[in-house]
Amino acid sequence: MNKPIAPTPPMGWNSWNTFGWNINEELIKGIADTMAESGLKDAGYEYIVIDDCWSEKQRDENGRLVPDKNKFPNGIKAVADYVHSKGLKFGIYSCAGTHTCAGYPGSFEHEFVDAETFAEWGVDYLKYDYCYKPDYIPGEILYKRMAMALRNCGRDIVFSACNWGNDGVYNWIRESGAQLFRSTGDIQDNWESIKRNALSQIGNSCYSGTYCYNDIDMLVVGMHGKGDNEEVLRDCLEGCTDTEYKTHFSIWAIMNSPLMIGCDIRKMSESTKNILMNKDVIALNQDPECRGPYCIKQWNNRDNVMTLIKPMVDGSYGIVMFNLGDKKSEMSLQFWDMGLPFSSGRGLSMYNCWTHEEEGVFTERYVTQVESHDCVVLRARVVKL
Ligand code: GLA
Repeated sequence: MNKPIAPTPPMGWNSWNTFGWNINEELIKGIADTMAESGLKDAGYEYIVIDDCWSEKQRDENGRLVPDKNKFPNGIKAVADYVHSKGLKFGIYSCAGTHTCAGYPGSFEHEFVDAETFAEWGVDYLKYDYCYKPDYIPGEILYKRMAMALRNCGRDIVFSACNWGNDGVYNWIRESGAQLFRSTGDIQDNWESIKRNALSQIGNSCYSGTYCYNDIDMLVVGMHGKGDNEEVLRDCLEGCTDTEYKTHFSIWAIMNSPLMIGCDIRKMSESTKNILMNKDVIALNQDPECRGPYCIKQWNNRDNVMTLIKPMVDGSYGIVMFNLGDKKSEMSLQFWDMGLPFSSGRGLSMYNCWTHEEEGVFTERYVTQVESHDCVVLRARVVKL
């Protein structure tokens, strides 16, 4: 590794949310085809990641991981090669413990040989979970160990740590060498879950930035309650509405979370495409400076209605005003809360990232009505009056 990898939050697709254990070579190839042809690749999505359940239950006689012979009859390298042939990158999954969460072999005390195997297969990204971790050894050491193995395996492999925010991960993960870290429990395709994950990380911006991003979990955008993964679909019925997915995507984007799609992209509706490929919202996520947003809560509804504001490298500001509550709400953003008093002789020119229209120049404040579970996303530029 001679130059840094993951200069902005990784974007891609992961098999877990929709497919769980039900993965195979044909599926992954089909996903790669769709990624390349549907516009997702052009919008910035790059990684195709196979999550848990891809291997045999036992290592081979040399202690190496073995791909499941039925699911991946040609091995993992063949799948990685196919993904690469589409101009995309390939990711896989293992675990810091003795077993993965679904009970397959984990990398505990096999870190270096597994990193070597992944490099041989052409892996570009490793998600690394936290189940079945021996109690006597701190997780911090195990993530440092795999980070060292990956950083010395001869291939650039993004290290996606996944210990769900446990053990003070914020205080040691950047130093470990990982490029991203999960800070939350597993997302489900329902509004309460989206809300819980988002709220739990507001205020943690200082821990997330270039080369080490706070991962609020994979996206459920476009799932609409469909798939084989009963865990992710528990209590979900029809999943979420398109409005809820739009808000979910906007919050994840401005919080610098990796944007890892979890739906079956081969069957995306037009609304799902519009959400996942909104270039103006993706631009907020992919800003090269990757500063996290600060939060201003609406004074009369602090628990549900708030605004996230992120300084962008070009001097503009990304703004997401959202209403997590169950009633429509008026929201107002006072510009002095952002550092812009009227006495400055300046106002904000607002571009709406969902309608893709300029809204004009505003002074002192911006007021809008936000429907329940909806959001307004703006790119604000400071202008002289
Ligand atoms: C954990 C992770 C999930 C997924 C599953 C796979 O629960 O948090 O994202 O990887 O394991 O078993």
